[in-house]
Amino acid sequence: MKLIRTENYAEMSLEAGKIILDKINNNPSLTLGLATGSTPKGVYDYLIQDHKSNGTSYKQVKSVNLDEYIGLPSKDPNSYHYFMRQNLFNHLDINEMHTHIPNGAVSDLEDECIRYEKLIKELGGIDLQILGIGQNGHIGFNEPGTSFSSRTHVVTLAQNTREANSRFFNTIDEVPTHALTMGIASILESKEILLLVSGERKAEALLKFMNGEISEDFPASALNYHQNVTVIADRDALKYI
Ligand code: F6R
Repeated sequence: MKLIRTENYAEMSLEAGKIILDKINNNPSLTLGLATGSTPKGVYDYLIQDHKSNGTSYKQVKSVNLDEYIGLPSKDPNSYHYFMRQNLFNHLDINEMHTHIPNGAVSDLEDECIRYEKLIKELGGIDLQILGIGQNGHIGFNEPGTSFSSRTHVVTLAQNTREANSRFFNTIDEVPTHALTMGIASILESKEILLLVSGERKAEALLKFMNGEISEDFPASALNYHQNVTVIADRDALKYI
């Protein structure tokens, strides 16, 4: 595992952005695994800025997102579909047909999980997966206790995850109780993984992760089984390291 230490959020975003651009320049039709949340926003801003100034093209790029809430239509401002359009896709020349996010608004969720796994395979797997980490160590929406052999599945969100995410909603009651997420095994099949960690509120999770104890109680620890993980963390997140 490689660790890149940065001063702050802006520098973390810049370092991650440079790695992603390098991959796209080497392989203009790569498949990117994308995350939502506060952590990758700066990276997405960097990619948008670069696209505007340098014209990096995403016409051939494919993307698969990690997760989506269940029960929110894609037009809902809190859905991850909406987040990705607002924060990235609408500002690039990416073909909407090449962007994929689990659909949490379908009636047959089990079928959706199977479809999503099949889709990732058909795309030839994920070349570079961007990850954030939850304070409880979740990756995607794989909460503590999730099997390392899990595939795309339906999850019940942990109460602390709903609390953490309630900052985007009017009240905690509006935060969905369930979500669809790629599983840990699906994530581990990515050829390369970039884990981004910023801010003091992630410091304990990062410490636990770096200490290397591998347990399903701490989902991010599964990344220790992967051969090509780069962690980019800022000084506040690295407080205990
Ligand atoms: C989001 C996702 C989550 C977040 C994590 C951290 O698609 O997969 O695992 O990466 O909850 O969220 P932020 O970045 O908002 O602290």
